[in-house]
Amino acid sequence: MKKTILTGDRPTGRLHLGHYVGSLKRRVELQNSGEFDRIFIMIADAQALTDNADNPEKIRQNIIEVALDYLSCGLDPARSTIFIQSQVAELCELAFYYMNLVTVSRLQRNPTVKAEIQLRGFAESNESGDSRPGIPVGFFTYPISQASDITAFRATTVPVGEDQGPMIEQTREIVRRFNSVYGETLVEPEILLPENSACLRLPGTDGKAKMSKSLGNCIYLSDTAEDVRKKVMSMYTDPGHIRVEDPGKIEGNTVFTYLDAFSRPEHFAEFLPEYSCLDELKAHYQRGGLGDVKVKKLLNSILQEELEPIRARRREFEKDIPGVYRMLKDGCDAAREVAAETLADVRRAMRINYFEDEELIAAQARKFGLGE
Ligand code: TRP
Repeated sequence: MKKTILTGDRPTGRLHLGHYVGSLKRRVELQNSGEFDRIFIMIADAQALTDNADNPEKIRQNIIEVALDYLSCGLDPARSTIFIQSQVAELCELAFYYMNLVTVSRLQRNPTVKAEIQLRGFAESNESGDSRPGIPVGFFTYPISQASDITAFRATTVPVGEDQGPMIEQTREIVRRFNSVYGETLVEPEILLPENSACLRLPGTDGKAKMSKSLGNCIYLSDTAEDVRKKVMSMYTDPGHIRVEDPGKIEGNTVFTYLDAFSRPEHFAEFLPEYSCLDELKAHYQRGGLGDVKVKKLLNSILQEELEPIRARRREFEKDIPGVYRMLKDGCDAAREVAAETLADVRRAMRINYFEDEELIAAQARKFGLGE
């Protein structure tokens, strides 16, 4: 069987280091490994609209930002099809049929949807006096739409962050249900998580659980070198580590979590040769006698080395924005072709391909006594 990747991001803002270690970097490695027959990278604008109905302009403005972030990280349109979700109408039709295979209570149990309802501040019931906005139906059902995204491209592999686990699980259920009701048609995808646990959920620079635009604790791929340096130097560490001599904590210390995510043994020879590896640095910090500034400077050097080539490529792509839109349009055309094939298979499996079905037409004709 062909190996196919599908993954994507909502265009609600520029992409940050959480996206990068959680998925983006891996995608580029997978692309360059040559192990996959096809790779689809989707800018999920329609999904972003499910909780931004009143702000389509934000989504519209951020499509190009996400495309630039993709290209600058090394996604290559010659090897990966980059496209925009809303331009592939076939995805909506698939979702419409899948909706019949999923119950309301199953959606209510989806942990990601649950958490997002809390986070967005949607009212869960319609008790009078609750002035919060209710849950939009499109938002509530977006796991089903995500199953369409994945299955339309017959994806075998979905590289995403940990928070997307429930979405892939729900997609697998829809695939199994569809195949058992209508016959073997859809491909059951597998999730591909980051290997390094620090990359599963990169905390924000303030030490909060997640890097998130609304919390203002992000380091963006497109931040300038100076922005990155400032953000690193003001990062949350161990609040109990006051004087250099004090023993410090590693757990929950954001700077060390970032080092877990980004440092490699060769960085020590390059930037901090007094230490041979991260474990040695950690041990010194825990003993006491190692100041935060020194650790932050190391992290800054490592991040700048990783981000500088990304920034440089971005500056190049920014010079030809119409070219980036053309690339996206070509991607949409290619994606639509593949999704249309799957949709045709789905209609055939559901036997709603009436006009292709000569047997049906002949049988109906006989029934009405007017055949041949
Ligand atoms: N839900 C993903 C996010 O929040 C975006 C997305 C939409 C996606 N459809 C997808 C990811 C299909 C992987 C596969 O960023």
